[in-house]
Amino acid sequence: MWDTATFAIRNSFIHLMLIFKKVADLRQWLTTQTKPIGFAPTMGALHEGHLELIRMAKRDGCIAVASIFVNPTQFNDIRDLEKYPRTAEKDIELLLTTHCDALFMPAVEEVYPPGLNLTIELDFKQLDKVMEGEFRPGHFKGMATVVNRLLEIVQPDKLYMGQKDFQQLSIVRDMIRQLALPVELVMCPTVREPDGLAMSSRNVRLSPEMRAAAPIIHETLQWAKTALKKNHSAAEIKAEALRRLSNAGLQPEYFELVNGVTLETIQSKDDFLFNENTGNSGSIVACTAVFAGDIRLIDNII
Ligand code: PAJ
Repeated sequence: MWDTATFAIRNSFIHLMLIFKKVADLRQWLTTQTKPIGFAPTMGALHEGHLELIRMAKRDGCIAVASIFVNPTQFNDIRDLEKYPRTAEKDIELLLTTHCDALFMPAVEEVYPPGLNLTIELDFKQLDKVMEGEFRPGHFKGMATVVNRLLEIVQPDKLYMGQKDFQQLSIVRDMIRQLALPVELVMCPTVREPDGLAMSSRNVRLSPEMRAAAPIIHETLQWAKTALKKNHSAAEIKAEALRRLSNAGLQPEYFELVNGVTLETIQSKDDFLFNENTGNSGSIVACTAVFAGDIRLIDNII
């Protein structure tokens, strides 16, 4: 169905969204735009969390551009790539409700032209090694590569990404710094279900039992935040959090309290308080990954 280069779509409110499949067509259209460009890259299977990125771009007065591209280079398990939900028509309908201006839905060869090596080879220090980096080897290199490539194509003024993937966002921030890319990174707060579960394309794959247990993830993160404020040590908090998650029938992979900039683990709240000598400032983030049955979920709290 999506064979030609560009489509124009109208919904009942006469909103027009252009759909581009080719870099050249998208580039040509972008050069005719006068307002700032706000860009939200996604892999599709859209939910409210994704849509909020577009709404934020529109609220900021931007021309909103979304992309849907299931990036093969960031999957360390080929079965995961094959199983990734592809729901283009529903995604387009959802994007229309946000008044998104343009959608880029390229084929793999458009993003990765044959014969070119676009792999990002940056040293992210510990940012891509801890937590997700430990459990998903190669994932962040593929992610950084595609985000850099998409930024090169779209050349947005603002890049909208979710707090939900805090480590991903930290790596993109560092990539922007290292490559001196002329783009402002905007972090969108995590959008949650009414019971606190962070929205994710994977939630629909949870068994009813695991869906019922999953809100404990956010509850545990909130508990950790309170415990840290009460000066419990990071080690105590971590042990108790892992116990709470396991008791609820989940299998936690990690639960870490980290410096919100460097992602170094912290020992106590004092590690982080502003200190001119160590350069500590900013935030502490509790991050966790758990298996709920065979579905892997991540979440965090600042
Ligand atoms: P994807 O998982 O589709 O997520 C796209 C964007 O939506 C990311 O910035 C993610 O943090 C944000 N997002 C997901 N769930 C959210 C929620 N509940 N609340 C707020 N934001 C949420 O992340 C990727 O795709 C890919 O790695 C990508 C950056 C597109 C590169 O391929």
